[in-house]
Amino acid sequence: MKLHGKTLVITGVSSGIGAETARLARYYGARVIGVDRHPVNLTLDAFHQVDLADPASIDALAVRLPARIDALANVAGVPGTASVDAVARVNYLGLRHLSEALLPRIAPGGGVINVASILGADWPQRLDLHRELADTAGFDSGVQWLEVHPVPQATCYQYFKEALIVWTAKRSKDWFAQHSVRVNSVAPGPVFTPILGDFVTMLGPERVEADAAKMKRPAYADEVAEAIVFLASDSARWINGVNLPVDGGLAATAI
Ligand SMILES: NC(=O)c1ccc[n+]([C@@H]2O[C@H](COP(=O)([O-])OP(=O)(O)OC[C@H]3O[C@@H](n4cnc5c(N)ncnc54)[C@H](O)[C@@H]3O)[C@@H](O)[C@H]2O)c1
Repeated sequence: MKLHGKTLVITGVSSGIGAETARLARYYGARVIGVDRHPVNLTLDAFHQVDLADPASIDALAVRLPARIDALANVAGVPGTASVDAVARVNYLGLRHLSEALLPRIAPGGGVINVASILGADWPQRLDLHRELADTAGFDSGVQWLEVHPVPQATCYQYFKEALIVWTAKRSKDWFAQHSVRVNSVAPGPVFTPILGDFVTMLGPERVEADAAKMKRPAYADEVAEAIVFLASDSARWINGVNLPVDGGLAATAI
């Protein structure tokens, strides 16, 4: 798997999975442009400090990004201990806004890779709602739709990861047909990153203990990075519209 000559835009590079993805992509030869709201502490080809919750900041970022890129990895995210509004904006609406802004610049055969979660697995239960939200045109219409269809704080993280899986699948169809751009997601189980503790708070001890009994350990961030980098590479050139679990088999234990 090689990324020589490829330009990747990776969000969330200042910590956890995004940082490991950036490091690995550079190791494979990519030119990596990182984005995060916090300063970065690794070597990149370029870095933009941007709040991905704010569409105006995303528009200003898009102006500064290159005219041609090969892949966009949407890794930045906040846990469900953040406000519903922040989760909606960072984990879904902003990610979508950035992807739509960059779509015309993604080279044919390139791709968008979204970081979903095992916690988005129940998307079929709310498919109609997620389809409706996916059909809203732009950030502001998404905000307006959410005002009419409020999402509870307790399950907002799950809701927007479900919505992201559905949006990924929908765009994999039309963006591949119209632009030859592949759109995939990865669905990590628990990962050792600074927000792992937030998930324990969010889910409660019973669910965490039940999951712990079904798996060997949480993932290391570099193990998730491998899957993201693979999906960005030409090795995955005919892989489109998948939501790839990277969870040591945790999701499969439901069967
Ligand atoms: N850690 C886990 O157990 C786990 C499991 C499944 C999915 N995920 C997902 O993986 C992704 C990466 O999370 P992580 O575990 O590496 O967490 P992390 O906190 O280590 O990294 C998230 C990064 O996103 C950045 N970010 C957050 N809000 C932002 C904003 N408004 N603008 C710009 N940057 C912003 C943060 O500054 C941080 O650098 C997230 O989408 C998360 O939902 C994590």
